Amino acid sequence: MSNDKIIDGKAFAEALRERIGTETAALKDAHGLVPGLAVVLVGEDPASQVYVRNKGKAAAAAGITASDHRLDASTTQDELLALVDKLNNDPTVHGILVQLPVPDQIDPNAVIDAIAPAKDVDGFHVINTGRLATGQMDGPDAAMVPCTPLGCKMMLEDRLGDLSGLNAVVLGRSNIVGKPMAALLTQASCTVTIAHSRTKNLAEVCRGADILVAAVGRPQMVQGDWIKPGAAVIDVGINRIDAPTTEDPDKTRLVGDVDFDSAVEVAGAITPVPGGVGPMTIACLLANTVTAACRQNGITPPKF
Ligand code: GUN
Repeated sequence: MSNDKIIDGKAFAEALRERIGTETAALKDAHGLVPGLAVVLVGEDPASQVYVRNKGKAAAAAGITASDHRLDASTTQDELLALVDKLNNDPTVHGILVQLPVPDQIDPNAVIDAIAPAKDVDGFHVINTGRLATGQMDGPDAAMVPCTPLGCKMMLEDRLGDLSGLNAVVLGRSNIVGKPMAALLTQASCTVTIAHSRTKNLAEVCRGADILVAAVGRPQMVQGDWIKPGAAVIDVGINRIDAPTTEDPDKTRLVGDVDFDSAVEVAGAITPVPGGVGPMTIACLLANTVTAACRQNGITPPKF
């Protein structure tokens, strides 16, 4: 196995965050503009708390003012919508992220619908999904693109250059990853297949892929013999599995949706878990916040 097969998302994200820092410094100098990101967390889900803390830290390091809004697990939908309304009307806040999942008494779609599309740095609002689907990617009313697929596309273009004409298989059809990923790859002139757990001959469909994006949430589902030799494999999965040792029978470890050890022997390029897609998602959230801040102030956003 040669190391140059590995797409180092951590290093890529660090470089991107540094570019974002340079751009925020320039925005402050030229326009007195400091991009602001509001992160809202309802309840105490431990994984969400870690994500939210990491997002806040990364924002501050990139010259973005992050404000944290922690709400009790018993918060009502109306209370959350009132906070979103306040943030929509706060000119120092350019990006709003409500961490999902939200508690059962709150309809996530009602919350996403309430976020001003221009401040929807997750790109989940139907206005933004519609703009992405119709290819409205430039100008003041362009789509905000969901962070995870945006990061995947950046890594693919960095590794492969022009993606046009390539066969791309997106494994998974979620609104957060699969569907927007397919839209981005379609725009990049790939021939795109959206596959999922019900797809017939799934392994064979995957073997046709020059680009395989795995986002199904099933640990190590994609095996080496599902991969076309030389293909680029992007593993979006983050799954915790048992990995007991004699010293620590409760030990666990993080794995992706791809069986890395068999896949790396066949693939031409592959993202590891951890250290692949995850760090890029946060970096893209920061990039989206800068993009949103520029658009809200009539400034052409930088190209990231
Ligand atoms: N929960 C898990 N991933 C995400 C994400 O990308 N955005 C939000 N808002 N919540 C999440």
